[in-house]
Amino acid sequence: MIQHPLRILIVAAEMVPFAKTGGLADVIGALPKALRAAGHDVCVVMPRYGWIAPERFDLQTILPALAVPIEEGYDQAMVQATVVADVPVWFVAHDTYFNRDGMSMYDDDDRRFVFFCRAALELTRALDWQPDVIHCHDWHTAIIPNWLRTVLRDDTWFMHTASLLTIHNLAFQGVFGHRVLEIAGVPQVDFEITEGSARNDTVTLLGRGIYYADIINTVSPSYAREILSPDAGHGLDALLRSRRDRLYGVLNGIDGDVYNPAHDHNIAASYSLYQLEGKATCKAALQTMLGLQVDAKIPLLSVISRLTNLKGFDLIDEIIESFLRIHGVQLVVMGTGQQRYHDRLTELQARFPGQVAFRLTFDEELAHHIYAGADMFVMPSRVEPCGISQMIAMRYGTVPIVHATGGLRDTVRDYQPITNDGTGFVFAEPQATALRQTIERALTLYTDAPVWLQLMLRGMASDFTWPAAAVHYIDLYQRAMAAHATDYERNA
Ligand code: GLC
Repeated sequence: MIQHPLRILIVAAEMVPFAKTGGLADVIGALPKALRAAGHDVCVVMPRYGWIAPERFDLQTILPALAVPIEEGYDQAMVQATVVADVPVWFVAHDTYFNRDGMSMYDDDDRRFVFFCRAALELTRALDWQPDVIHCHDWHTAIIPNWLRTVLRDDTWFMHTASLLTIHNLAFQGVFGHRVLEIAGVPQVDFEITEGSARNDTVTLLGRGIYYADIINTVSPSYAREILSPDAGHGLDALLRSRRDRLYGVLNGIDGDVYNPAHDHNIAASYSLYQLEGKATCKAALQTMLGLQVDAKIPLLSVISRLTNLKGFDLIDEIIESFLRIHGVQLVVMGTGQQRYHDRLTELQARFPGQVAFRLTFDEELAHHIYAGADMFVMPSRVEPCGISQMIAMRYGTVPIVHATGGLRDTVRDYQPITNDGTGFVFAEPQATALRQTIERALTLYTDAPVWLQLMLRGMASDFTWPAAAVHYIDLYQRAMAAHATDYERNA
């Protein structure tokens, strides 16, 4: 079947290589490439933050003055553009709103992101590039579906434009006072966000997006189910349940060009499914680099994470010392987070020299060395919408040990001794004893080299690449367009 190419506008607050606070930026860096490769016409819009240097990224000003409706008047944006990996990226520039040191967490975030979103829409008109679907990400862009279904519903340029809203983490909702609706110019009367909510003095932009988007998705099938329950719904579960027929889960991919031990210039030796020797070289190199005892036989456990309880670091904290003492394992931790964990890891590093390495930083190059050189990757997150590190670890033959939640549950299959299947170790309850037993299970299997090797190889062979994810997104874009057309007719 010949597929009609779609025009897809991706709107987001961050994208690698320009700006990154979390996994969202990786998704926006990778998904458009995969959509282009599948033959679709895709462009990305993001804010031009102060540090995105025009010379470094070859930004060209394509619209010196774009009029953007805001509140009851207009303000002006400048639009700049560049191309990365074949994907056009448009930047909304505005000195007061975006020329700052950070991306968000400012008092005027409501105004800044409403302005950004409206500029993203208006620039398509100015450039005569009419999108079939607008793919919005997280609260920053969630006002767009609201506009498309209300004030822009009969706008000739946008009336056939569908919307897809992707929720990367339901915990971040963009909660503001009612003033944000005046800034955005949308009516408030048409909307009750949650049944029986005590928070009706506020506006939740993400909730508005969920209410109005043609289709909604999260970044794993399990997370899409979990957020329907009050436990994980962050006050939006009732609304999500009311829209469950429009809610999907699509796993993110990882960028196979960046994360591939066969062609990774950051690591000490390359290796692959068919030629695994290099992995031992990478382990020795990592041990040397971090001042650990160089010994191929000592199990090397790794963590790359924010060091917080949400990521389950308290569970690691509770049990790790006995593994260092009794089992003599090595531990490498890279990341930043709660001060008490910085102190604790610094102390462990001093008490277990040659055995513990702590790097209080996030260093992309070191991350590659860790993924390649470690034996196991510990990721006991309490909540994980998708998670990316566990997929990268598997790609590098580093066996993940994870809590069964969200994307961790969907990407790691627990080792089954009887059938000799699985790609890692999974535990059900986020409790220290469960983590302890699971690491014990892993350490026991580690001594059985041939079986361990098969476990590694199954992980390395898993397909978590973006082309696979893009197929699902293309399906969702088509569903969004179909739903949009039907709803439009119905309300005509
Ligand atoms: C958020 C989630 C993470 C996910 C990422 C990209 O950061 O917490 O699980 O991988 O978004 O979708």
